Parts: sequence; C-alpha cells; structure tokens
Amino acid sequence: MLEREGEMRPHILLEKLIPKPVGIKETTQHLESSPSMLLMDSEASMENKDDGIRYGSNVEVQVANEEADDADNDPLTEVDEAIGDIWQSEPFLKELQQVKLGVGVPEFIKNESLRMLEALVDSTFQFVNQPTLPSQRNFAPVDEIGEEKTVTSIEGEIPADFPEGIYIRNGPNPLFGTLQSTVSPLGRSSNIWVEGEGMLHAIYFTKNPSNNTFTICYKNRYVESETFKIEKEKKRPCFLPAVEGDSLAILAACLLNQLRFGKVNKYISNTNVFEHSGKCFSIAENHIPQEIDMSSLDTLGNWDVNGEWNRPFTAHPKKAPGTGELVITGADAVKPFLVLGVISADGKRLTHQVDIKLERSILCHDMGVTERYNIILDMPLTVDVNRVLRGGSLIKYEKESYARIGVMPRYGDAESIKWFQVQPYCTFHLINAYEDGDEVVVRGCRASESIIPGPEHGLDKFKWFSRGLTFREIKEEYCDDHKDNLEEGFLFARLYEWRLNINNGGVRERYLTGREFSMDFPMINENFIGLRNKFAYVQVADSAASSICGLPMFGSLVKFSFGEVDKFSGCQQLIEVEHHQLGANQFCTGSAFVPRPGGSEEDDGWIISYVHNEETNISQVHIIDTKRFESKAVAKITLPQRVPYGFHGTFIKTPA
Ligand SMILES: [Fe+2]
Repeated sequence: MLEREGEMRPHILLEKLIPKPVGIKETTQHLESSPSMLLMDSEASMENKDDGIRYGSNVEVQVANEEADDADNDPLTEVDEAIGDIWQSEPFLKELQQVKLGVGVPEFIKNESLRMLEALVDSTFQFVNQPTLPSQRNFAPVDEIGEEKTVTSIEGEIPADFPEGIYIRNGPNPLFGTLQSTVSPLGRSSNIWVEGEGMLHAIYFTKNPSNNTFTICYKNRYVESETFKIEKEKKRPCFLPAVEGDSLAILAACLLNQLRFGKVNKYISNTNVFEHSGKCFSIAENHIPQEIDMSSLDTLGNWDVNGEWNRPFTAHPKKAPGTGELVITGADAVKPFLVLGVISADGKRLTHQVDIKLERSILCHDMGVTERYNIILDMPLTVDVNRVLRGGSLIKYEKESYARIGVMPRYGDAESIKWFQVQPYCTFHLINAYEDGDEVVVRGCRASESIIPGPEHGLDKFKWFSRGLTFREIKEEYCDDHKDNLEEGFLFARLYEWRLNINNGGVRERYLTGREFSMDFPMINENFIGLRNKFAYVQVADSAASSICGLPMFGSLVKFSFGEVDKFSGCQQLIEVEHHQLGANQFCTGSAFVPRPGGSEEDDGWIISYVHNEETNISQVHIIDTKRFESKAVAKITLPQRVPYGFHGTFIKTPA
C-alpha cells in the first residue's frame, strides 16, 4: 500500500515552502514585483505570537539569498530550474495543498490575510471573456431548466423492449457564459476549451406497464463540486486559469488559487459519468468523483472510497470482467505520477493501490482491463511545469519521446508490469482490451497530435484546430514529397491495434482504418469490457464542419465488425464498416450503447446519442438500432431546450 500523505503541521509546511521562492526572487529582477512572490512574503511575515509559531524566517531568507549570490549560472535558467525543482520536488505541491490557514491562526488574521489576497488578485488580474465564433454557438452554455420536463415530441417509436433507465451525459458548460482568460502584469492565462464546469443532461425512460409505452422526462443540472460552489456563491469567476498561458501568469495562478482556496485549480467534473455499485458518479480526471443523485441530479458529495482514495481519478474507470471490481488510475503532476487502484464491487473498499512508478507525469486519460490484467498507457502526452517556465505548454505531446503500454496482473505492482515499447501514440480513448492466446490485444483511437494545443500556437487557436481537423485525401506516395500538407488533419484519430505478446515480449501494431474517417469517443457493449469483442462504435468527425468551427464536431457514427484472425496465416479478415448518417447539419455527442434486455448477441441493442441540429438549433436524443445500423433512427426525442456539445454519456438501467 502507498504511504499516506504526511500529517505535517501547516506552519512547518509554510516554513519549508517560503525560503526557496524568496531566494529565487533575489536572482532576477523581473520576479521581484511578482504578486506570487509578494504573497509569499506577506505569508512569511505572519506571526502567531500566542503559540510562538513563525510563518517564515528571515534567517532562512538570508541563507537562500547567499546561496543565490554564489551561483554562477545564467540567472533566468537558474530561476526556471529552481522553480521547476520546487514544483517537481516531492513536498511542494503536496505540502502546499495541505496548507490550512485556519489551523493555529487567529480568525481575524486568517480573514485579513484572505482579504489581502483577494484585494491583490482583484487589483492585479482582470478576467476577460473568451470570444466564441458563430459557428461555435452550440458549444455555448445553457441554463439549468429547473424541474424536470416531460417530453412528448417523439418521432418514430421507442422500442417496446427498450430498458427503463437514465441516459445521462456530461460536458462543459462555463458558469459565467464563456471560458475565461486573465490579463495581468505577469501576462495572460486562459482556460482551455475543455475547462467549462460540468453539466449533466439526463433523459429518463419510464415504462407504462399498462400499454408498454414510455414516459420521457428531461432534466439538466450543474455538478456542484466544492469549487463550483465557491464561484457560484461569489457570482463571478474567482479561480485564475492555470493550465495555459504565460509562464509567470500560470505559476501565479497556481499559487494564488492554492493559497486562497486550497486548490491549484478548480474541479470541473465535466468529462464522464459512470455507474458503480448502483450509484452514479460524475468525473473529470483532476479530482475524485462526485456522487450524483440520479433522480434529482443533486451532487451528493465527493466519493473517496471511504477515505482511501484522495488523489486524481481517471475519467475512464473500467469494470473488471467477472468480478465487477472497478479498476482506476490517478495521474498527477507530482510523484507518484500514476497510481492504480482496485475498488471492490460494492464500492466500499479500496482493495488494492499501487504506485506504477512512472518517471514522468503524463496525461493518462484512459486505461484498460482484461480478465487477468490491467492495461496502462504510458504515452508521451506529458505534464511538465518546468516546460511552462521555459514558455512552453503545461501539457504537450512529445512525439519524439518514448511510448509504452504496460500489462500488469490485476493485483500486481510496479515490478510485475510487463512493459512493451511501442511507436509514440496519442490515444485518449481505448476501445477495448482482451486476451487472445499469448497476446493481449489493445485497440484505441490514435492521432498524430494532441487535441490540447500549447501556447506555441498563439492565443487564437482557431487556425490550428482548423488545420488539424481538415481532412485532405493524400496518397501515400504523395506524402513523402509534401510533408507540409501532411500536417493538415493531424488531429484526426484513427482506429489502431496493438498486439502484445506476453511470452516473448513481441509487439505487432498497426492502423486498422485508413484516412477516410477521423473518429473518437468509442463505445462497445459494456458486457464485453475486457473480453474479446467483435463490435465497436465510434463518433465520426465531420471534417468540413470541424474545420469551420475550430472544434471537433461529429456528424455520423460508424459500427465496426472486426474479422477473426486466421490461425494459420495470422491474417485478419477485413473489418466491416457500417455508417449511420445523422442528417445534414446534425452532430452528436455522448453516444452510448444500450444492450437489449435478454439479448444474447453482442450487437443486439441500440446506440443512444444527443444530437443537435445546427440549422434549426434544436436538440434531440436519437435511438439507433445497432442491428440495422445504417437505417434511420428508430426514435428521435426532441428536447425542451438546446443541449450543448459535450463529452461522454452512459445509460444506467433501472434495477429490476
Ligand atoms: Fe474521455
């Protein structure tokens, strides 16, 4: 088991924190007026004479200064390294996160300090609304609708054997109308496009036993994380954007957010929603999940597995086949960079927790399971604060770096992981993983770039997104002579397969699809997670619409039927593709597979999806029969209000 975070007293933590930044300040002029440094100084001068605790130490400051004076290196490089060291060093963020101004500090000092901090932020940072294009209008947020609304406008028929339950989808819905940037003497920092506050949209399917028809209701609610409540109560943005922007602005944002709210950044909880042990949870990977009341969509509170998991939590936990255990990972910017956990099927216990002992911090969005193994994606989408200080991005896809996939026994540890070196990949979502003889088969959506842009693309990311989402048919022989053109479509994700031989360590990897489709948000029949599956479904990007919008828009869905591998030749039969067009100017998000109750075949069921019509500005939920995938949706439910494009959805069946 991992060692629990220390229980050091806050004043000790502050003393350990303060000298280094002050020492750094002395090595360069341009940092001297930094609010973050001033803030450190103000904290450093605080004393609690009642208990003799001193927050900071002049002696230590002097020592730090002398050390700085002795340095011969380039001051700016030294500053970068030093600040980076502080960030990366074991205690910094963790200790910062444990700072509690209220412990051992008289209330009036605490209040006055916080007031000073707020005044400092208000006078130094100006919040600015990020602009949105007309073509991005359905990325704009909506209000909460209030009481659930009964829906009566249904085209077609909901199948009589469709299960009762809730189709619920998460997505970003910026609380104050748009994403925010801040400008200050330190530069600019901005929310990135995935950072809006999480809002849940839910459709309830309730069967009328007398006539086998359904009553349909719609409701939406924000996920009320503790940071959401802070901003909602203050009725204005408070958390300084801390992911992208100028180095000093980001650093100051992190420090000021931490000192004011006890968190480096806000908890957006906007990415996915999942069920475990009969409960529903909302999740974004920078925090633990929030439990959601499925009837009211009320946020019931954080789920920390009875206090046993207190670190980031993957947006894509996986239910282990057979046992029903929930396998999770948690990626962080500081060591341990990645931890894997196993939660009991009843959701009450963390039965296993192990440090994967990665040597770098990565954005590990997804993971896999098979019957015996956990699948770990060590891809070079790295998170590096040192890079921010050099003017780079916090999150970057390092395509020249190494990439691995780890296969770990379910209850294994770092030493028992079998690592497979593979081609660098940028994969946000796996389709599935399963065991096939000596091989572990892993399939996912692989792109040649990350869809999270860095500051090197400037403040206006539209052109970068637009080029990346532009599809141009390129013949392979043409590519070698026209490398520049290849850069178009770099955000296209295609189906990819890794075959990892457990016995001899061999790897076979390849694209399974060509350049016809850019696809993501894969889904399968969840009864087949970790088992050999024949079918998969993906949302397909509309290249023209996406490049005009500058954000991914999914205009159709595809069903894949994977062929068997010939045991003698080793060749795989062709993959069958069925294409479901949503219709002109219609785009989907949050698609999920709903198995037919009592169905025995893997593809017996429906795809359900939130669909928006850009022309009419009307949102619907479509139900598509997966046995007749290319046919028109069997039911289209018109919603009482617009539903913005979002991320992942799931269907949670009402218990029998
Ligand atoms: Fe995801």
